Amino acid sequence: MHYLITGGAGFIGTHLSLRLLREGNQVTILDNLSTGRADRLRDSKAEIITGSVTDRELVFSLASKCDYIIHLACVVGVRLTMSRGCETLRLSHTGTENVLEAATVFSKGIFVASSSAIYGKTPKVPVAEEDDSILGASNKASWLYSVGKLVEEHLALAYCRERETSVKIGRFFNVIGPYQTGSYGMVVPTFITQALKGEELPVYEKGKQTRTFGYIEDILDGLQVVLQKGIPGEIYNIGGFEEISILSLAEKIIAMTGSESNIRFIPYSSAFGPYFEETIRRIPDISRLRMLGYEPRYTLDEALSEIISHHRKAT
Ligand SMILES: NC(=O)c1ccc[n+]([C@@H]2O[C@H](COP(=O)([O-])OP(=O)(O)OC[C@H]3O[C@@H](n4cnc5c(N)ncnc54)[C@H](O)[C@@H]3O)[C@@H](O)[C@H]2O)c1
Repeated sequence: MHYLITGGAGFIGTHLSLRLLREGNQVTILDNLSTGRADRLRDSKAEIITGSVTDRELVFSLASKCDYIIHLACVVGVRLTMSRGCETLRLSHTGTENVLEAATVFSKGIFVASSSAIYGKTPKVPVAEEDDSILGASNKASWLYSVGKLVEEHLALAYCRERETSVKIGRFFNVIGPYQTGSYGMVVPTFITQALKGEELPVYEKGKQTRTFGYIEDILDGLQVVLQKGIPGEIYNIGGFEEISILSLAEKIIAMTGSESNIRFIPYSSAFGPYFEETIRRIPDISRLRMLGYEPRYTLDEALSEIISHHRKAT
């Protein structure tokens, strides 16, 4: 298969590209390299086209030559999406419409990457695909990414209904793994980098908020199950299974790295200003994906130990 992967030079895209190439597929990447990096794929056979998904002509030309499109391109990370709101929404709307239109015109299948962020501040745990999205007021820019991802989902579903586009949607839940950077607000690489340097780990508020992290290899297994067995027009949660509070995560990483770092508690208002809100608990209900044969394999300890050893080698 010849895959076109938008955002393929990013964290998830790099792992996915390398896996698809290992399996004997051909990979073309369309990435503007705003947060992605081409050097990690230098020794691979991936073809990297530097450009934007908002460039309709370029998207059409690349889509016409591939067999399947995987749309990952996005502005990712709380700090980045809050400071680049216009770009985030333009990418979600115009970029996603371009790839969906191209997929439709050239009759290609397409996978659209969504996020657990669309569930917003729903108190329900675990969350299943048909549960409500509950987002905060629009003056709280922290919901902007969720809105963008909802726009992507609605566009994808509308194309499926109205144009018979063969589109599948995967909602990723807090993916972690090597190559992920802490520069844009991702918690695991931030904590590991700080712990390895012996510097303070920043924990927001009291650190009681919880997340369920999914190791990249498991997430890619889930994505491939969706590609192979998923139903067009259907949404699939793709995530891990162990819930942990951010404070416990910080303590665990300090212990696993043998670090002497301390934890520094920071109020949201100091870190992000007054207009910030976030989800208190997030656990995926992955029954729908399990019905297709998916089972995550990595415990959180195993995942963290892989990532820590990758960070140690890199430094
Ligand atoms: N990492 C997670 O935990 C997570 C969770 C939920 C959903 N997702 C989704 O998965 C996808 C990939 O996320 P990631 O973690 O690999 O992020 P990432 O930032 O590492 O990758 C995004 C890639 O998109 C590229 N990009 C940005 N704007 C572009 C444009 N206009 N045209 C082409 N490329 C552009 C970036 O350069 C980068 O390589 C995103 O759609 C994200 O919303 C990720």
